[in-house]
Amino acid sequence: MIPLSIPHLEGNEWKYIKHCLDTGWVSSAGSYVTQFESMVAEFAGAKYGIAASNGTSGLHMALHLLGINRDHHVIIPNITFIASANSAVYTGATPIFIDIDPQSWQMDLDLLEEFLTIKCFINDAGYCVCKETEKEIRAIMPVHVLGNICDMDRFMQIVGEKNIEVVEDASESLGSYYKGKHSGGFGKIGVFSFNGNKIITTGGGGVIVTDDEATAKRAKHLTTQAKVDPETYWHDEIGFNYRLVNVLAAMGVAQMEQLPGFIKKKKYIDQYYREHLKDVGDIQFQKVSSVVDPNCWLTTIRTSHQDKILQELKNASIIARPFWTPMNQLPMFTESIYHTHHDHSRVIHQECLSIPSSVSLTDDQLDQVTQTISSVFQKVN
Ligand SMILES: Cc1ncc(COP(=O)(O)O)c(C=O)c1O
Repeated sequence: MIPLSIPHLEGNEWKYIKHCLDTGWVSSAGSYVTQFESMVAEFAGAKYGIAASNGTSGLHMALHLLGINRDHHVIIPNITFIASANSAVYTGATPIFIDIDPQSWQMDLDLLEEFLTIKCFINDAGYCVCKETEKEIRAIMPVHVLGNICDMDRFMQIVGEKNIEVVEDASESLGSYYKGKHSGGFGKIGVFSFNGNKIITTGGGGVIVTDDEATAKRAKHLTTQAKVDPETYWHDEIGFNYRLVNVLAAMGVAQMEQLPGFIKKKKYIDQYYREHLKDVGDIQFQKVSSVVDPNCWLTTIRTSHQDKILQELKNASIIARPFWTPMNQLPMFTESIYHTHHDHSRVIHQECLSIPSSVSLTDDQLDQVTQTISSVFQKVN
């Protein structure tokens, strides 16, 4: 069996986790938590890192920190993992979905600009208001899908003019840069995920990054039950138990030590596929701008023969996955505002599939994947 994207645990994971077990520091306090927070923040070029139990709780916390609530909208790309939209809903806010660009598979910035210009107005308080619902659009969540990054200069200009805060869903983009700047650092808050399939993993975990000291302090406070005094159990507001435990942070430290090597291998895998599949059938790859240096986390191809390829790979015990179901098609969001002209999301969902991209993949396995995919087109032609 060739898996899709599995953890690579060949570094100091055992050693550091054993250290936690040997010393009894297994829970939410412990030096690995602070070390992991600093390592991620430093790597991402951020001043502060705050660990979270996972990327989803990190995104929820980020929106909560910005004061997002039931009176607000959060703009989200229509193709993303459900956690982006859910985190907005957890705050009580209502998501608005924008269709994606059919080449880069990121939020379409023309559609974003059009929506904010035609379908919104600026109220007396200086906030952008959706004409249809009369709710303020207080935040937007660009999602760096598959480690790619959209035109962030233009993005920041569009939303900056409308006074909309940016929370980057950088779950998939640790190691991705736009014009030399690391993802997660464009808006006020960025969030990384360390779920099992990500470029590094803690089994489950996340880190919130920010350059704002007050936001960082409040993030730490709120993710740790808003506890002011541990002896009297004095909590000064409603907090959350969104902590990452020391055992998992220990694993994260060991994974961070290996991150540069992981990125190198991911790039190799992506390049391999691009070279070996570029003239095969109608296969296309995600378009990545020359100013983006992506982490190549999970190679994904686009073809009108998605079904047949998925089946053939399955027959060969090779794991592949279609792209996410667009948000507007999910039962919770069928009534939501979705701004689109051509519903590219629908086609991208029907035509894209992610193929094996684990760090441990061998050349023989890469060859097996490309041969299996190519064989489909030999039968089709
Ligand atoms: C784009 C995106 N957003 C959010 C998440 C949520 O992260 P987590 O699974 O750590 O909660 C993930 C990954 O799972 C993701 O890929």
